[in-house]
Amino acid sequence: MPTIRYVEHDGTVHETEVPVGWSLMEAASRNGVPGILGDCGGSCACGTCHVYIDGAGAALLKPIDESEDMLLEYAVDRQAGSRLACQIEVTEAMDGFTVRTPIRQHTE
Ligand code: FES
Repeated sequence: MPTIRYVEHDGTVHETEVPVGWSLMEAASRNGVPGILGDCGGSCACGTCHVYIDGAGAALLKPIDESEDMLLEYAVDRQAGSRLACQIEVTEAMDGFTVRTPIRQHTE
């Protein structure tokens, strides 16, 4: 089972083993990881699962699709590595994968 590293804005790390096929949002929610709210339940409608994926990690993911890209247009803190955690399905290749969470989602 792949281990995913969730890193808060202040550097706090939460590591959790995630079954293949779960989304990064679902895994965070079920394991009490703060900063990924997932208000719409994963239907790509709220943007509260906004995360940052850096460098090599991004190469493991399917490209962003139009609906995810449109929703991220409303994120005030969008960066080059911005994605929606509910749209990223965990694969075996993602063992050790790092996900960073925006500060804004820790203060709402
Ligand atoms: Fe709502 Fe991801 S959980 S967009």
